Amino acid sequence: MIIDRQEDVTPAVLVAMSKGDARLREVISSLVTHLHAFAREVRLTEEEWEYGIDFLNRIGKATHDTHNEGVLFSDAIGFSTLICLLNNGNNGAAETASALLGPFWRMNSPHTENGGSIVRSFTPGPELFASCRIVDPDGAPLAGVEVDVWQSSPVGLYENQDETQADMNLRGKFTTDAEGCFSFRSIKPGPYPVPTDGPVGEFLRAQGRHPYRPAHLHFLGLKTGFKTLITQVFVDDDCYLDSDVVFGVTRALIGDYRPGSGTAPAPNVKGPWFTFAYTFVMEPGTAVLPNPPIK
Ligand code: BEZ
Ligand code: FE
Repeated sequence: MIIDRQEDVTPAVLVAMSKGDARLREVISSLVTHLHAFAREVRLTEEEWEYGIDFLNRIGKATHDTHNEGVLFSDAIGFSTLICLLNNGNNGAAETASALLGPFWRMNSPHTENGGSIVRSFTPGPELFASCRIVDPDGAPLAGVEVDVWQSSPVGLYENQDETQADMNLRGKFTTDAEGCFSFRSIKPGPYPVPTDGPVGEFLRAQGRHPYRPAHLHFLGLKTGFKTLITQVFVDDDCYLDSDVVFGVTRALIGDYRPGSGTAPAPNVKGPWFTFAYTFVMEPGTAVLPNPPIK
């Protein structure tokens, strides 16, 4: 098609893309329609277009085996949370226990026995004793769920970001017992900033936004016949609960982290300690692992 005016561009592109796989056509035609409408609405300048292309290129260049700037950008504009909530909880119709995966899940966390510790090198902070349960939507316990747990250290870094932590510190893989329970020992998580040394940091600073996430534990539950549960549970008194930089906090995911009193659950507890209890619901569906954002 020969183009005479700016109005001709969108229909020409849509015609060119009208063949091939039906779903690809649906998704890309809608993307192009919205993208063209956006450029017209804001009268995007050539300088702004150039900046946007450079920004995307820099996101790609900042992504490597141990860091995923692309996932971080999707998170920082609320897109990851939107996709998560659209695809869980009865296709977005109901509240769900799911939350965004984030850029720090690693495959092959060490198998750890129930009640075992995921602290694999010295980590400062109060100890945490977690007792969790996984049930189906009718409340029946789910045995044999493989559950990955991961968290940052209270210093504010995941082990893959911090040479002073042992490999796989604060990561572990558990299996639920006949009652659907799994438990572990760790350190109470603290709030932390997302990485700000790349294009996403530049983006947050330009908008005057802080880079913090409220303290949380991450969970990924996998069992044949059930939709993979990817979620996070937040510390209930965290000051960033209502301003999470990646919009991950839903009401259902504010947890119950209680200061311990009386006799600690283990003999070798030296300082203050906390308990954490949570019951997760897994929906029937297909068990598929996400692509790990980092190695
Ligand atoms: C995280 O909680 O691991 C996370 C999620 C989104 C962006 C950065 C970090
Ligand atoms: Fe996290």
